[in-house]
Amino acid sequence: MNLPNHFLDLHEFDGATLRGILSNASLRKEKRRGMSRGSADADRPLGGKTLAMIFEKPSTRTRVSFEMAMRQLGGDTLYLNGNDTQLGRGETVADTARVLSRYVDAIMIRTSQHGVLTELAANATVPVINGLTDQSHPCQVLADVMTFEEHRGPIKGRSVAWTGDGNNVATTWIHAAVRFGFGLKLACPQERAPSADVLAWAKSQGGDVVVVERPDDAVKNADCVVTDVWLSMSEEAGENGAALRGRRHNLLAPYQVNDRLMGLAKSDALFMHCLPAHRGDEVTASVIDGPQSVVWDEAENRLHAQKGILTWCFG
Ligand code: CP
Ligand code: NVA
Repeated sequence: MNLPNHFLDLHEFDGATLRGILSNASLRKEKRRGMSRGSADADRPLGGKTLAMIFEKPSTRTRVSFEMAMRQLGGDTLYLNGNDTQLGRGETVADTARVLSRYVDAIMIRTSQHGVLTELAANATVPVINGLTDQSHPCQVLADVMTFEEHRGPIKGRSVAWTGDGNNVATTWIHAAVRFGFGLKLACPQERAPSADVLAWAKSQGGDVVVVERPDDAVKNADCVVTDVWLSMSEEAGENGAALRGRRHNLLAPYQVNDRLMGLAKSDALFMHCLPAHRGDEVTASVIDGPQSVVWDEAENRLHAQKGILTWCFG
């Protein structure tokens, strides 16, 4: 039996497939622009298809961009709050996968445990898409690579700096660095470093990925500076969320992206953040709202990148 075209993590793809998804996203972005100028036919390859979207955590960009991408491509979506389904009261992930596969044509899930995503994929007979887990966020970083290239040309051989928490988004940047062939320097405190497994994988693939302790060392001469929140959604919602916030603040304050730090990067370096952001914590308002920031383009490109992902999943 052929496996469905799951979109689970960037490291599972070869560079050519990811390039194909991005080219498709860019073509559809252009096509949409043409449509708004009244010069192109409707782009509706997903007519009759429905994407179920399971959210076990909040979302603005992922939810709205998938919903709009499906609508604009002629398909439909079904929003499922994880807690309102039987999944929330213990029906197994495998049974949920089997049942949903009988109703819908693809499933996107945002969940905490990465194992829930992989179990869903192992038991679904339709494509499953990773809409963020505690381990990774592939849809986001694909949009980020697209954004970098729109502003600065090919990302291959360029230098990206990550400063702050070595979290799910950082992990996917590591996958992307290897698959797209760019250099990545991550500055994270030791206790929040990216997982040893992902770093070992990058090394085994010959990736140019290094972890440094000082943000200045990561950012120096970088073409792009990236950061993310100090506390991710699952941590915030956890039992010790409030206490953890104070602790993380003290730990990560030296990793803040501010004007001084941006000044160490190349003079035309871009600033990226997947959003939502906390101004005054991981980034100052002067940077995120300043001339080097491309955060709104990143957010927009989530829509276009989702189209590349969806059309790949549907073959
Ligand atoms: N960046 C991102 O995934 O945003 P949402 O949490 O709003 O989906
Ligand atoms: N690291 C963040 C990303 C949000 C899009 C989180 O997991 O909450």
